[in-house]
Amino acid sequence: MQFVHYPVMHNEVLEYLVPRKAGSTLVDCTLGEGGHSKLFLDRYGDLNVIGLDRDAAIQEKAKARLSGYGDRFHAVNVCFDDFWRSYDGPKVDLVLFDLGISVFHYVESGRGFSFKNDEPLDMRLGCNDGLCAADIVNTYDEESLADIIYGYGEERYSRRIASAICDYRESKSIETTKELADIIWNAVPGDYRHRRIHPATKTFQALRIEVNGELDRIEPALEGAMNALNPGGRIAVITFHSLEDRPVKWFFKAHWKELDVLTKKPIEPSAQECEENPPSRSAKLRVAEKRNEIKTQRGKINKYKANGSVANDEA
Ligand SMILES: C[S@@+](CC[C@H](N)C(=O)[O-])C[C@H]1O[C@@H](n2cnc3c(N)ncnc32)[C@H](O)[C@@H]1O
Repeated sequence: MQFVHYPVMHNEVLEYLVPRKAGSTLVDCTLGEGGHSKLFLDRYGDLNVIGLDRDAAIQEKAKARLSGYGDRFHAVNVCFDDFWRSYDGPKVDLVLFDLGISVFHYVESGRGFSFKNDEPLDMRLGCNDGLCAADIVNTYDEESLADIIYGYGEERYSRRIASAICDYRESKSIETTKELADIIWNAVPGDYRHRRIHPATKTFQALRIEVNGELDRIEPALEGAMNALNPGGRIAVITFHSLEDRPVKWFFKAHWKELDVLTKKPIEPSAQECEENPPSRSAKLRVAEKRNEIKTQRGKINKYKANGSVANDEA
């Protein structure tokens, strides 16, 4: 089996996520092909890994790759926010999010994440999830389409593109990636067609985010993961664009009582990594550690009791 995804910023992730005791648990919330998980399992012989992914197809690849680790690896096919919302297991030590999608999705899934091949316009990560990308481009009204393309793609020609989509679908519904990419190409000004990125890139990103409800899942997942962490445990989050990075930054800031932010500025990949793996160029890594005590506004410190509840010394 071939693995096509390069585990982004893995040296930095391994540097920050170090198990403090034997038998620690890492939850890899975005297992993908299992690249990061494998590095952890190889490095720490007594670490247990739970690998989450909402996409059953890519998770099968990871399960095959990691089958040799026996009971130390356990896979769950679930959205990470749903997992953490209902989590009532033992506290965990390390949590990793590597947001977005994998190279697998672009090159192997056949689900229309890329316009390089002509594929059905689907973009669902979980096959039983609701609307697919074709449903959206064929049924949303023009204003909603423009808002999504602008809001989730930061595409300056969002209104022109939405208008071209609506004109086109009056005669025929839009079914494939190539059809949509051609509509976008023809909708934008000539000098916008030959820039560094293809003019359809941002619209495709926006549709993927809308189809999978990607941004709305970040905060509840961080909240659940933070609550499940042992004191001294760490959460690391890799993001690939500012729309993903912002909620992570704000979550860490808002939870200053419970979390100590270890990366005052996000860490970026080395020049060597960017050269070896160009898609990592836009990555940012933020890491926070669960405090041993909860900080209060008056600077007092409430210690965690052994059962995870808080001993309130202000009472
Ligand atoms: C960037 S890839 C992870 C790659 C992985 N770290 C590796 O080294 O192979 C992100 C993965 O997260 C999954 N994913 C995205 N959103 C998710 C969510 N809300 N819940 C669970 N998995 C999700 C995608 O299906 C994809 O496989």
